Amino acid sequence: MRLNFARSAALIAIVAASAAATQVKAEDVEVLHWWTAGGEAAALNVLKENLQEQGIGWEDMPVAGGGGEQAMTVLRARVTAGNPPAAVQMLGFDITDWAAEGALSNLNDIAAEENWDEVVPEALQKFSKYDGNWVAAPVNVHSTNWVWANKSILDELGIEQPQTWDELIAALDKVKASGKVAIAHGGQPWQDATIFDAVVMATGGPEFYQASMIDLDPEALGSDTMKEVFDRMTVLRGYVDDNFSGRDWNLASAMVINDEAAFQFMGDWAKGEFLKAGLTPDEDFLCFRFPGTQDQVTFNSDQFAFFNQGGEPTAEQVALAKAIMSPEFQSAFNVVKGSVPARTDVSDEAFDACGKKGMKDLAAAASSGNLFGSMAHGHANPASVKNAMYDVITAQFNGEYDSETATQELVDAVSIAQ
Ligand code: BGC
Repeated sequence: MRLNFARSAALIAIVAASAAATQVKAEDVEVLHWWTAGGEAAALNVLKENLQEQGIGWEDMPVAGGGGEQAMTVLRARVTAGNPPAAVQMLGFDITDWAAEGALSNLNDIAAEENWDEVVPEALQKFSKYDGNWVAAPVNVHSTNWVWANKSILDELGIEQPQTWDELIAALDKVKASGKVAIAHGGQPWQDATIFDAVVMATGGPEFYQASMIDLDPEALGSDTMKEVFDRMTVLRGYVDDNFSGRDWNLASAMVINDEAAFQFMGDWAKGEFLKAGLTPDEDFLCFRFPGTQDQVTFNSDQFAFFNQGGEPTAEQVALAKAIMSPEFQSAFNVVKGSVPARTDVSDEAFDACGKKGMKDLAAAASSGNLFGSMAHGHANPASVKNAMYDVITAQFNGEYDSETATQELVDAVSIAQ
């Protein structure tokens, strides 16, 4: 906790300085985002170029740090200083929290003109709208319950794609015995939580995920099933390398890309890194759902929210929202980013095998009641609850709590955070 405060204070100082130094021209649109890894930056370029073609300048405000925690701290500082950026990449409940503060522009006119109600799935509209008004434009749908695997390591060791927890553990054992790293992981709270999302789903099933991660039912949070989830996290902890602490997610992806590690459990932004490295799905790497979650999708959606600059949205904000929502852009961007379109009417033609599977899985999960907001990525509960869960998950993953203590800590932390 203390560390978090220190980091926040440092960030606020940096932002205050950079905010003062930044002179944004009227026709530029300043965009705060955390897309700084190779695949992310490549996808962002698709958006930048789209705007440049319309004669709108791009004032970049990148804040490195996967999952966006640092970006949200910087945003808070900018708003407090009375200088919010025009457009901000945001996730789930962060959007509704800012909308509740009255900070976001109303996008109803452009949404009506372009028929967003018809093409954006309900699950996303829950976050793009506040009080019935459009306040954000969704750029994609990511999902967090993916495994990224190095195909040549698996082939060499005779490992089949694991379908169950036991098969997964058998596969991890084989990799460990070969001297390679079994799980490429970066020990940062949001990455630990990303794995936790998948383990909760795999261990307890969709009803348990709903009860514990979304409804915050104290019985589910404090159950034997949750204890088993923590036990499984401890098992997985035994397969990461010694240098995992603090490693950025894209460096963990690089370990799989460079034949150092067999598996990474990560959202499909990881695919952006594999593609950027020139690799091809099914030939060089495999993408499949975390064993035991084959029918489920835990999703998050990057959306752009537009901070009120005093009145109606500016012409540049509207142009950015329009660009984001165009079907052509949604295809071009998501092909590079690893995510899938936030519109239901975009063809999967341009997408690779993982993208096609992602689109199919999403549609199937949505229609069978198997689509759930990702806790780790702000789509299950507001940041206060999410961060309370992060603290327990990370402490347990690092051996601070046994599974029984962690289960009780989770119940307590969530109850205090609500
Ligand atoms: C975002 C992705 C991003 C990832 C890692 C997630 O929360 O939704 O767009 O690539 O964090 O930075």
